[in-house]
Amino acid sequence: MALFRRNKKNGTAAAVMPRHIAIIMDGNGRWAKKRGLPRSFGHSAGAETFRTISRYCDSIGVEQLTVFAFSTENWKRPQDEVEGIMDLLRKYLRDSCAQLAEENVRLRFLGDTDRLPRDIQELIGKNRVISDACTGIIVNVCVNYGGRLDIVRAAQKLAQKVKNGEIQPEEIDEELFSESLWTRGLPDPELLIRTGAESRISNFLLWQSAYSELYFTDTLFPDFTPEKLDEAISWFAGRKRRFGGV
Ligand code: FPP
Repeated sequence: MALFRRNKKNGTAAAVMPRHIAIIMDGNGRWAKKRGLPRSFGHSAGAETFRTISRYCDSIGVEQLTVFAFSTENWKRPQDEVEGIMDLLRKYLRDSCAQLAEENVRLRFLGDTDRLPRDIQELIGKNRVISDACTGIIVNVCVNYGGRLDIVRAAQKLAQKVKNGEIQPEEIDEELFSESLWTRGLPDPELLIRTGAESRISNFLLWQSAYSELYFTDTLFPDFTPEKLDEAISWFAGRKRRFGGV
């Protein structure tokens, strides 16, 4: 049962409900190991949890959910594990083609998607077209994403614009910089959750999480239920957000 449900029509409870939640979905491998299963089973279970959590976020009025599905560093994992995660993405994207419109979900992929297998890139394109007609929750899936890469690419884009004479260096401010990131147009996440008992950001949303409340939980991601998300939101509701003021 949701603790804080935003009334989608008038936005009631907005003060305690984050509009944008980001999640580092960590602990899939350990979840599988604990059960004597291969790591890939943990990722499959994690993918199911991700679906459950996205539906739940939509039902309680969270406007944006951003998840870290595959980092720029994850290519270093054994090839079969990388392929397993790509297969899960493929399956998710295929299923989504049929369900997005019905569930009214806007799906976005953030990261350097050009390096992904061609068929996944095509599925992302198809999903984008379907998503554009939807009006519900925005689910951002970060794939081949790295916070530093995001910042470096934004700097390159802006440098190119200066070189082309389109902007002056003094015009580069936080707003313009934000608009040059993969997350352009997204509000910064108010709540960033990491499951899996690690307390670090691991190159996720480095720029965007400057003022996020950080919630670390020992729960392994496949065990992260809507009730556990409620606990995180409840914790968030008790935080005083001062943004550097008093
Ligand atoms: C981190 O856990 C998890 C990942 C690197 C992959 C996350 C991917 C999914 C949940 C599936 C993505 C699919 C969709 C449809 C978005 P870990 O493997 O590092 O866990 P460990 O720390 O216990 O080893």
